[in-house]
Amino acid sequence: MIDLHAHILHDLDDGARSLKDALAMARAAVADGVTLMAATPHGRSVANAGFSRYSVALLRERLAELRAALVEAAIPLELVPGTEIYGEPGVVERLRAGDLLPYADTRAVLVEFPLAVTRAAAEQIVFALQLAGYRVVVAHPERYAFVQDDPNALIALAERGALAQLTASALIKGRPNGLAETLLCHRLVQLIASDAHGPHFGRLPNLGAARARAAELLGPALADAFTRDVPAAILSGAPAPIPPPEPVRRWRP
Ligand SMILES: [Fe+2]
Repeated sequence: MIDLHAHILHDLDDGARSLKDALAMARAAVADGVTLMAATPHGRSVANAGFSRYSVALLRERLAELRAALVEAAIPLELVPGTEIYGEPGVVERLRAGDLLPYADTRAVLVEFPLAVTRAAAEQIVFALQLAGYRVVVAHPERYAFVQDDPNALIALAERGALAQLTASALIKGRPNGLAETLLCHRLVQLIASDAHGPHFGRLPNLGAARARAAELLGPALADAFTRDVPAAILSGAPAPIPPPEPVRRWRP
């Protein structure tokens, strides 16, 4: 599996606190069946200035430290850099300036929003990024009020080529026919990632359990698409190998 959202880099944001924590997360991910993980610390913004020390230089430093420690500990986890970008005005300019990073050497960007973001405001940021040539992956759509009110709001984004990333724990802990399952079963999301933060949050990598649940709901081929094939396509710049979304007919938030 490929996990495209994890706060595994240590002493950088609210993720891993130490190199030891980062190694514990890496061990858990490998035991779970993950071979490749994107390290996506919170990009610095006004909203998270209190807990993110992010800079691209510090990210690269932490990534190099962790890669060396993984080799030393013989943990077979490949890491690629990324950023969980806070979707706010000015983000295109900061990407262009190199203050925020897309995934590895791609034009794909992981973008989160404030939980109360309106649909119009989210679309405005996503479309601005797309016009600038970026492929947008929307982080944890299940947490946004406009998606909770109307899951079909994600269709317009999907039709414009944006992808949406469900969080593994939302699927594992969500109720049957709840929002996470509904988003997955209607392919209103196209990939699953852990958004792991580390032992101090009780949020270790857990993509395996989410893949198992997806396989129960939709069969192994789609479960693999959500946890391996779509993430691989994002990293290689290929189209997402998944059928288009299917509208939710009845939804009571
Ligand atoms: Fe995150």
